[in-house]
Amino acid sequence: MKTFGLIGYPVEHSLSPEMQETGLEELGINGRYCLYPVEDGDVEQALKGAFALGIDGLNVTIPHKQAVAESEMVETSELAERIGAVNTVEFTDNGIRGYNTDARGARRALERHEVDIEGSEAVVVGAGGASRAISFMLADSGAEVSIANRTYGKAEELAENVSRMGDASGHPLEDLEELVGKADILVNATSVGMEEDRSVVPAEHLHSDLTVLDAVYRPLETKLLRDAERKGAKTVDGAWMLLYQGTEAFEIWTGREAPVDAMNQALRDELE
Ligand code: ATR
Repeated sequence: MKTFGLIGYPVEHSLSPEMQETGLEELGINGRYCLYPVEDGDVEQALKGAFALGIDGLNVTIPHKQAVAESEMVETSELAERIGAVNTVEFTDNGIRGYNTDARGARRALERHEVDIEGSEAVVVGAGGASRAISFMLADSGAEVSIANRTYGKAEELAENVSRMGDASGHPLEDLEELVGKADILVNATSVGMEEDRSVVPAEHLHSDLTVLDAVYRPLETKLLRDAERKGAKTVDGAWMLLYQGTEAFEIWTGREAPVDAMNQALRDELE
């Protein structure tokens, strides 16, 4: 039996067990996906233990993504290394490999909605962990990326890092009107919209030539996405990113094409 799982703290609200076990079942793979709460500082021990126990693959979430990327036990992919965060590890006979499927997942979510990233102008709001993965991915895929954040210094710092890979600039939120006005892609990578029905981008800045991706997936339909739809923009909800970070991990672990539709259904059933 194959064993996969999630290490992080906390982990109990994760939607991955349903999604991943549906994928395994669909392909007739005898396997399970378990949740392992691992406290800050214990991640090296957890990786060693998992390797010794023969666990096949793990997802990594807050607060361990950076620590795993920096771990000497883990051979990190180039993109994950540049982002400085690993969210998926694979245990192989040759050691532990680390990947960032948050970035790859965001790319596939946009591709699934037929969005051309290369040559586009993209605005990412927020400068935390989610923004980091998405901004690197967009720059790596050939977009011109503007990062806007409430704390301007953090946007500037992230943009400086991302610009080693592609085209990126940092901005305060006051620049949003101008930036969004000429943008093709807008991403909300802040937590705004999660607890209250609020949007970080005023509705009047949105327009019909935009694709709007919201990293928030609870609720699925955020105020930002509702406003965007009303303006005739294309919308991509946060479950798509969650889905594709999961299917990318699934494919790394199993070497098989993920049953995307079944995993998507399982995820949306859980969310709704
Ligand atoms: P994550 O890892 O999920 O990205 P994070 O690192 O805590 O989470 O980042 C949260 C992001 O949401 C930050 O960019 C934060 O802005 P600051 O850097 O100024 O804190 C942004 N954010 C949170 N609440 C916000 C609010 N009410 N208005 C605007 N931005 C907000």
